Amino acid sequence: MYNGISIIGAGIIGGAMARILARKKIINKIIATRRNLDKIRDLEELGVIITSDNVWAVENSDVAIISVKPNALANVLKEIRDVARGKLLISVVAGVPINLIEDMLPGTRIVRAMPNIAVLVGESFTVYSFSKNVTDEDREFTDILFSSMGVAIEVEEKYINAYTGLTGSGPAYMSTFIEAMVYAGLKVGIPRDIALLGATQVAIGTGKLIRDGGMHYAKIKEMVVTPAGTTIEGLFELEEIGLRRGLMKAVYAATQRAEDISKNKNNTD
Ligand SMILES: NC(=O)c1ccc[n+]([C@@H]2O[C@H](COP(=O)([O-])OP(=O)(O)OC[C@H]3O[C@@H](n4cnc5c(N)ncnc54)[C@H](OP(=O)(O)O)[C@@H]3O)[C@@H](O)[C@H]2O)c1
Repeated sequence: MYNGISIIGAGIIGGAMARILARKKIINKIIATRRNLDKIRDLEELGVIITSDNVWAVENSDVAIISVKPNALANVLKEIRDVARGKLLISVVAGVPINLIEDMLPGTRIVRAMPNIAVLVGESFTVYSFSKNVTDEDREFTDILFSSMGVAIEVEEKYINAYTGLTGSGPAYMSTFIEAMVYAGLKVGIPRDIALLGATQVAIGTGKLIRDGGMHYAKIKEMVVTPAGTTIEGLFELEEIGLRRGLMKAVYAATQRAEDISKNKNNTD
């Protein structure tokens, strides 16, 4: 299989990927790069090699994951252009299409992927697409790689910006929902730590009922709402603030932002 993986830009998501790959030991060597190495010293304890030398990192690995911000991408690709030739390059950079990377890195096999921050606990939802020149081994490795971080599926590239808005940003929406649940618990007198435990367990439990229990969300609501009961009072209020419309608008706006980055508009993300 492959000899070594480098993670170029080991910040929030790159660092999370380095940590889980080191823990799961799915590859023999992991190299992580960023300019400020003091921020990733802890990775060394997990056996990860850390360096600020992107060229050395890519030279010494068969696979490179690029996890810098969109506005830093062009410089990084220019830097590794010669050493990336013939390698598998996986970009998790929001909004940046495969053809743009292909233009900048001729002779490289490319994966465009969108994980989310739940990589940290091995519960990411990751989508990925391939350039035309990838091998069967690249496809298999990509699936093994992202499946080690959670659930992973191949999708058509034209949908990746939409997944970026839905599941890439999803943990931020869910965190906002859970924060609101905790505040709601405080409002009705529940201690903060128990409100947090309750809110997160409700999110996990409901997710499992739907995904693993095969239960439709409408059915769950039917089972919880009773005539003149408590839940219908709560749902009645939610209807007024338009939670569903708000979420739909949020995902739409995030998707549009990814589309703007794809068109190279105002890449300050
Ligand atoms: N955060 C998420 O949940 C998430 C999820 C999916 C995808 N993404 C995508 O992942 C990318 C990174 O996002 P992030 O949230 O992880 O941002 P981040 O924490 O800012 O990570 C980017 C890292 O790149 C490093 N970097 C910048 N220039 C570099 C260079 N020339 N060479 C090597 N390293 C360099 C920075 O460290 P130094 O300044 O020390 O060099 C920084 O730690 C973005 O494109 C984003 O769209 C993020």
